[in-house]
Amino acid sequence: MNITKIELINFRNYKKAIFDKFSNLNIIIGKNGVGKTSIIEAIYLGSLAKSFKTNSDDTIINNESNSYKIKIYYFDYGPKNNLEIIYDKTGKKTKINSKLQKRLSDFISQYRIIMLSPDELKLIKSSPNTRRNYLNIQISQLYKEYIHYLNNYNILIKNKNDYLKKLMINGNLDIRYLDIIDEKIVDEGMKIYNYRKDYINKINIYINDIFKKYDRNSNIFIQYVSDYEVNDKEKLLKELKRIRKKEINLGMTSFGVHRDDYEFIHNENNSKEYSSQGQQKLIVLAMKLAEVSIFTNDYNIKPILLLDDLFSELDEKNRNNIFKSINKDTQVFITTTDLKNINKRLLDRAKIFNLDERM
Ligand SMILES: Nc1ncnc2c1ncn2[C@@H]1O[C@H](COP(=O)(O)OP(=O)(O)O)[C@@H](O)[C@H]1O
Ligand SMILES: [Mg+2]
Repeated sequence: MNITKIELINFRNYKKAIFDKFSNLNIIIGKNGVGKTSIIEAIYLGSLAKSFKTNSDDTIINNESNSYKIKIYYFDYGPKNNLEIIYDKTGKKTKINSKLQKRLSDFISQYRIIMLSPDELKLIKSSPNTRRNYLNIQISQLYKEYIHYLNNYNILIKNKNDYLKKLMINGNLDIRYLDIIDEKIVDEGMKIYNYRKDYINKINIYINDIFKKYDRNSNIFIQYVSDYEVNDKEKLLKELKRIRKKEINLGMTSFGVHRDDYEFIHNENNSKEYSSQGQQKLIVLAMKLAEVSIFTNDYNIKPILLLDDLFSELDEKNRNNIFKSINKDTQVFITTTDLKNINKRLLDRAKIFNLDERM
């Protein structure tokens, strides 16, 4: 799966731009603010239909316009294909080969991406919510049905919270409704738990070996932390019964996979409190590279790697290490302000896009 061409119309600072003839290794160079991250953002949107920078597509539209459009051409062994995202007042439309897609879930993951940036490297320090979102995105790139289970679960939790709030006000309401909704929640929640557990297990198969290339004397693994750890329907229902009074008093669901998290265990310690900042970044880097291996080896999917401004964060040895663990036929997009950050051997086989020359 390779992207060959991108067209941007009224997207961020681009009124109209075409980037063409991509190769496997693409380096986008230019001064700060010239539009490097915006190209990465367009590729990310083409895969997930959602930006990593904002939840509001209005901010993406060029200031002087009222709609944006992205068109991405790609090929996957067979015939050439293209994707479009058009956004205006009426909402977001997506197309595959000019055919309008009814649902976003039909559009997403035509190609998969793994994103690495200074922001992404903060994963260990960030909130449980950010870590959960990240895990959700990654699993949904591999399993479409996962998005569906997640939506179901979230709707059930919302309905349960609404009912708990009503119960707070009116204690005479039928409590049996909670039995019914709890059973549905546990069914959906256990599915989500098992996808997450399986994905984290897979990361653990690769991450330690990869991390050792960066830090020879360290051990690393990811510990999944979930209320659903017992993974047994009867026991989970029993627990929900046990805490029911508390939930009614709180007026919200205080137990479930919506509270899941994962910890990075570095030399038997929680990395958040134990590792240096530099180590935390390398641990996340190792995790992402482990994910490239999962996609490639376990699912036979070649993800596209997006390295946005990453090299400013790493020293030369660590930069070069990345490319030792990546297949040469994996497509990579790198942005940088300075070609000095890029080693000669990479430069020789890269296609370079100099955005300063467009100004
Ligand atoms: N909606 C928009 N309309 C016009 N310009 C924008 C919009 N959103 C962001 N910009 C500008 O686009 C430029 C490109 O940003 P970015 O791609 O992050 O640059 P880089 O990664 O090269 O530093 C920035 O100068 C920013 O101010
Ligand atoms: Mg940038």
